[in-house]
Amino acid sequence: MPEPRLEQVARAASGCLAYLVADLEAREAMAIDPQEPEPMLARAAQLGVRIVAVVETHTHADHRSGARELGARTGARIVLPWKSEASFPHDALHDGQDLRIGDVRVRAVDTPGHTRDAMSLLLPGKAIVGDTLLPGSPGRADFYERGPEELYHTIFDTLLKLDDSVVLYPGHYGPKHGLPEKLVTTLGEEKRVDEALSLRNQADFVRYMTEGWPPKPHGWEAMVAANLR
Ligand SMILES: [Fe+2]
Repeated sequence: MPEPRLEQVARAASGCLAYLVADLEAREAMAIDPQEPEPMLARAAQLGVRIVAVVETHTHADHRSGARELGARTGARIVLPWKSEASFPHDALHDGQDLRIGDVRVRAVDTPGHTRDAMSLLLPGKAIVGDTLLPGSPGRADFYERGPEELYHTIFDTLLKLDDSVVLYPGHYGPKHGLPEKLVTTLGEEKRVDEALSLRNQADFVRYMTEGWPPKPHGWEAMVAANLR
């Protein structure tokens, strides 16, 4: 498999991070968690690739998804987690499935907790984790009742089984989200700095993810609904 090219597209105004994974030889890319199409199209043009798939790691509750707009602009197919309740046409991404772009493969894995449908995308030595594991903290897990419990299994039974050297590419960064100005991290680094990752007792972890969090984003239910239709 050729070395996949991973590009991070940061949006300072919202503290959101989107990604392009490209096969530069095949001149194809997938866009992941896009907001406005323009920065994604500009980055794809710089790389000389065509966006052929638009992938969401989860249903966003804090911002408008740009997936459909980017799909419409490029003709790319939309790929959503199999648990997504989206009512518009899309392909379902399944746990353990390989997503192919040119000769590059990205392995999707279920990582529920932040949302019910959350998935992560694995490349050699790298993981695009959406809001499952942000720099210094997991993403909030209170959008649904079983969130904290599912996040416990996601972190300890799935993500922490990966090597400490795996570089994590999160969905958010910066003060807007109560996070450091840090665009990437590693599993080993998160083990050192993220208190939640030390709570191996499930009840302790669930309590940590349940108590003392700031209010959910204003209008989050309407945002989820808008991102699903
Ligand atoms: Fe999120």
